[in-house]
Amino acid sequence: MNCVRFIFLLSYFWLSSLACDQSDPLVVELPQGKLRGRDNVNYYSYESIPYAEPPTGDLRFEAPEPYKQKWSDTFDATKPPVACLQWDQFIVLDNKLTGKEDCLTVSVYKPKNSSRSSFPVVAHIHGGAFMFGGADQNGHDDVMQEGKFILVKISYRLGPLGFASTGDRDLPGNYGLKDQRLALQWIKKNIACFGGEPENILLIGHSAGGASVHLQMLREDFGQLAKAAISFSGNALDPWVVQQGSRGRAFELGRILGCGMAADSATLKKCLKSKTANEIVTAVRNFLVFSYVPFAPFSPVVEPADAPGAFLTQDPRDVIKSGKFGQVPWAVTYVTEDGGYNAALLLREWHGTGRTFLDELNDRWLDWAPYLLFYRDSKKTIKEMDDYSRAIRQEYVGNERFSRKNYLALQRLFTDIVFKNSTQEALDLHRKHGKNPVYAYAYDNPADRGIAHFLAMSFDSTFGTIHGDDYFLIFGNLVRNPLLRSDEKRISKNFINMLADFAVSKQGILKFGDCTFEDNVGSEKFNLLFINRDGCENKQYVQFP
Ligand SMILES: *[C@@H]1O[C@H](CO)[C@@H](O)[C@H](O)[C@H]1NC(C)=O
Ligand SMILES: *[C@@H]1O[C@H](CO)[C@@H](O)[C@H](O)[C@H]1NC(C)=O
Repeated sequence: MNCVRFIFLLSYFWLSSLACDQSDPLVVELPQGKLRGRDNVNYYSYESIPYAEPPTGDLRFEAPEPYKQKWSDTFDATKPPVACLQWDQFIVLDNKLTGKEDCLTVSVYKPKNSSRSSFPVVAHIHGGAFMFGGADQNGHDDVMQEGKFILVKISYRLGPLGFASTGDRDLPGNYGLKDQRLALQWIKKNIACFGGEPENILLIGHSAGGASVHLQMLREDFGQLAKAAISFSGNALDPWVVQQGSRGRAFELGRILGCGMAADSATLKKCLKSKTANEIVTAVRNFLVFSYVPFAPFSPVVEPADAPGAFLTQDPRDVIKSGKFGQVPWAVTYVTEDGGYNAALLLREWHGTGRTFLDELNDRWLDWAPYLLFYRDSKKTIKEMDDYSRAIRQEYVGNERFSRKNYLALQRLFTDIVFKNSTQEALDLHRKHGKNPVYAYAYDNPADRGIAHFLAMSFDSTFGTIHGDDYFLIFGNLVRNPLLRSDEKRISKNFINMLADFAVSKQGILKFGDCTFEDNVGSEKFNLLFINRDGCENKQYVQFP
């Protein structure tokens, strides 16, 4: 950083913190006016603050525009954030529609501690397959109890409203990622007024949130928005993140909604803008083959280089290889049976027949596997796709039929393809092409109740350590057992301290409990911190265990 810019930045932070009157902790003054938050015994909250113009009407399917309105009255920041309009997998009813199209807000949670004038900041991008989820999915009681940092939850457009793309300039896609980026700019600019330290911002997320964090970091100027990042069980190389075939799905969406066979993207976009948001999002069910499979029919895409305001114009692998990405310390993580999120629903009954989806899978493997495992649009021919389907089935379950008995072998297949192998690949590329520390952990400590139990509708099964079993210890989740075991309480505390310390660390050092993560950059072997019920241990691997 050159000196002039450094001084400029310094004075910018100094001025922006000076500009904030913090005499009444509930009232915060922003450039657009005053807002009033809420006092929640041990923390303050300032919720549903708009960072973008409503992405409705003519702004639907466009890059977000910064919020422009001025408040003449004090803005009421006591209303809980509304989720972006979505077709929610976790609504058990047939009608899974929830949320609102006008949803682009951030919510700020600040611990009470009169002996501190400022806090580091953890910015949080929720998960939900780029299709669903919202701020309320991640409880903040545990982190506010610890009182170590300000938490900012970001909402962003989801599903077709966030990601429909024809792969050209007219409907480039990635609106949800552009939203997140605008929210990060908002946080950098305004968080000092809430007592946050703009120079100590850590960006984190789980699952699609983790993948989002990684994608944000792949922008070359990311270091101006945050100083470090963690992607929990989700990164940009996972097969469900940057997908092909979006153009076909965008036109299919138009067809479903009565736009006919639109002649071109501009005509399609015009027609889609004339529909109600509810119609567009309800059409998601037409893209599901069964249950909520594939779980991410609309997701990030590679945009053409000439798309206005393009967010991602190269495959993430090529971005990493080019070395042109945000140079900040980054951690990527997985849990030993992440794929339970996807496999567990196969244990459910198949439409009241007494058979399970698992039984059904025996006859439909070639049809379903490409959707379940996200290679439907990445294989060149049907033959190549079928051969691959047969080969992975053979590799993981041999000649056996799928049944409850070998369910765990199938779950391992899901873990590898949907999460783990791409995590190893990401770590591998970053250790070769990165300059800043790259860390990784593997977590193995099953929750008594988690996402797999919920999706399988079975509370007596043991699945191993499933997607979210670690993250939900930091942020409470509906599927989590509200009462943590003593080992989980300790782990929860360690995770929260890990975030707080990482956000302030000048050298980008990452710690969990008594363990200090080892950097992977330039390392021959993978350095993984192994975390389980008994504690933590640094281990080295040629391949992920
Ligand atoms: C308040 O902050 C101080 C200084 O960081 C810390 O020592 C203390 O434990 C905090 N108090 C609470 C209640 O979190
Ligand atoms: C995943 O990685 C493991 C070990 O690195 C490998 O043995 C396995 O074949 C991979 N699975 C797939 C489906 O590529």
